[in-house]
Amino acid sequence: MNAKILYDTILRLVFATLLLMILFAFIVIKEPHEMTSKEAENSETTQLIDLKEKRDPKLAKGKLLFKNNCAACHNKNLKDDLTGPALGNVSERWEAYPKEDLYNWIRNSQLMIEEGHPKAKALYEKYKLTMNAFPNLTDEEIEAMLYFCDKGAD
Ligand code: HEC
Repeated sequence: MNAKILYDTILRLVFATLLLMILFAFIVIKEPHEMTSKEAENSETTQLIDLKEKRDPKLAKGKLLFKNNCAACHNKNLKDDLTGPALGNVSERWEAYPKEDLYNWIRNSQLMIEEGHPKAKALYEKYKLTMNAFPNLTDEEIEAMLYFCDKGAD
């Protein structure tokens, strides 16, 4: 007799649990609101970029340094000119010169223009502006920013 009551109770409990689980599954599966295609596209793009940066800390570091130091004059999208030229794949444009030349340009472009470096002179003649000097950036920081300029452009 007692065993039967116990058995019935367990059966009811199992049944009730199952019902609750099905109900819960419905609530979870149902989207809270329909995203417009634009919203979906935006969040997908941001997620993609976030994912790229998570997998690649150097890219994240370069992007942050770029935002803090360079984005006032160089477009963050790396594609369009602003006050300064777009910096997407900029290393390629300096390929004819030793790596230090590009680093020196970023640290003190004025000095290079004065010294008559051909690339520096050409840039100055084209833009007729002088870029800020960044004498305190380390090699590692410049490397990360240039990495962002190359990788972030695609
Ligand atoms: C105040 C505006 C300004 C800021 C801030 C600035 N730049 Fe520039 N940058 C320029 C201008 C203008 C030029 C074009 C050359 C010239 O006239 O000096 C240039 C040119 C360059 C070039 C050469 C581009 C080429 O086509 O070869 C590089 C590389 C560069 N900047 C990197 C940087 C980096 C990295 C930072 C941040 C650490 C930075 N710039 C911050 C204004 C700026």
